[in-house]
Amino acid sequence: MGNKYRKLASLHGDAVSKCTLPIVVWCLVGCVLIIHFYTSIFYGDGEEGDIPVRLNSHLLTRDLEKIEEESFFIQPPRVKRSPRAIKRKPKPKRHLSIIEEFLDENSQFRHLFFPDRRMAVGPMNNTDNDELNFYPGRIWLDTNGEPIQAHGGGILYVDRFKTYYWYGENKDGPTYHAHQRASARVDVIGISCYSSKDLWTWKNEGIVLAVEQTNMTHDLYKLNVLERPKVIYNDKTEKYIMWMHIDDANYTKASVGIAISETPVGPFEYLYSKQPHGFDSRDMTIFKDDSGIAYVIYSSEGNSELHVGPLTDDYLDVTHEMRRILVGHRREAPALFKYQGTYYMITSGCSGWAPNEALAHAAESIMGPWETIGNPCTGGNRIFRHTTFFAQSTYVLPLPGIPGSFIFMADRWNPADLRDSRYVWLPLTVGGAADEPLEYSFRFPLWSRVSIYWHRKWKLPNAVSFNR
Ligand SMILES: *[C@@H]1O[C@H](CO)[C@@H](O)[C@H](O)[C@H]1NC(C)=O
Ligand SMILES: *[C@@H]1O[C@H](CO)[C@@H](O)[C@H](O)[C@H]1NC(C)=O
Ligand SMILES: *[C@@H]1O[C@H](CO)[C@@H](O)[C@H](O)[C@H]1NC(C)=O
Repeated sequence: MGNKYRKLASLHGDAVSKCTLPIVVWCLVGCVLIIHFYTSIFYGDGEEGDIPVRLNSHLLTRDLEKIEEESFFIQPPRVKRSPRAIKRKPKPKRHLSIIEEFLDENSQFRHLFFPDRRMAVGPMNNTDNDELNFYPGRIWLDTNGEPIQAHGGGILYVDRFKTYYWYGENKDGPTYHAHQRASARVDVIGISCYSSKDLWTWKNEGIVLAVEQTNMTHDLYKLNVLERPKVIYNDKTEKYIMWMHIDDANYTKASVGIAISETPVGPFEYLYSKQPHGFDSRDMTIFKDDSGIAYVIYSSEGNSELHVGPLTDDYLDVTHEMRRILVGHRREAPALFKYQGTYYMITSGCSGWAPNEALAHAAESIMGPWETIGNPCTGGNRIFRHTTFFAQSTYVLPLPGIPGSFIFMADRWNPADLRDSRYVWLPLTVGGAADEPLEYSFRFPLWSRVSIYWHRKWKLPNAVSFNR
């Protein structure tokens, strides 16, 4: 601004002696000022430049394909964001339209979210240089060449067999709506189990907890709901214990179910369901601590808060101890992990099958208090980070041999065809300063940042030590 005015002033001075020149000059000055005024209004704030309210195809493609080259493990987590960057709210309209596009089965961009069968990856079906590569969102085939059916799952490593077991919902049936206002569902088929030595080559071990086809009063009756199975091993009883979310089609039963097996590949015997501590329980997980004490964490009070409490020694029930955590935060899909004595948890918001923003939380004690330390999603682009890469957390698996490194496991739900929901596995690291201020005090410790790095394609580093 300053320079421009000095220049205009000198032009004006030269023009005094001539008659028509001042008029021309003043016209030019007027034009310059009008253009300047116009541009400062419409483009002045860099943020305003990218407000396209209407969804524009080029924009969507560009946004989806603009991927930060985040180098996993080599590059330290991102530097602290400026306070202004944190405050700036994402543009809701734009996100909404892209989420609607994501949920629209007839969208012309469908292939970007749900690449078709030709893009499938897996051990039977890969070119040489694709072996062991994770492709978040693509169809993932097992050793039979069939798409893996292990949704809302979790992984158990069994040292005795040097093997990973992946348990999840088998949703390989037709998607339908039970009534007009009901959300999309698939009838219960059972819990699948897959085994692997390298976390990429998965062998189908079959259904380890099967549906009940005829007994309508049974929890596992096909018209009920069976979600988010997690399995842990009990060292004392030498049994494999599965906890899961049990519900009726309208989500009014809101219970946990418990099953037990002699082997990791079942068959699991279903024991019973209950409302833990007498409370409604929907999305849930279990976590076995280093001490051998296991905990259940579940969304309760109509998903408005989470509850956490230790299990009995045999892992078949809850004890009387329970704490309410993240009260009023409305979080679900909890995935817990521990690093250097601190507990971390990733959760999602509650928006049905639609993706939303993940948050990371941390605590010194698993029983709380828990603090929110921000959105862990890094890279991709703003929409990816705002939607957890169009997915929802289900589990976090520590990588053997690389302390502080984990695999973040999430589900990219496809409510138009739930069996075609995809897996989004991405590297997660703990390190660097968290970017949200502490919620309840300024005491130590300052939590580390949890970062989930977007990659279109990635593989585990060689430093991961598999015991084959
Ligand atoms: C992968 O397998 C599917 C069928 O299982 C096949 O249609 C597709 O062409 C294969 N893709 C490649 C790249 O081999
Ligand atoms: C049906 O399931 C209920 C609940 O598990 C059980 O009590 C009942 O005995 C079962 N009925 C039959 C006929 O198996
Ligand atoms: C679920 O709700 C619908 C509509 O309110 C009702 O017709 C149906 O009987 C309910 N089903 C169950 C299993 O409660």
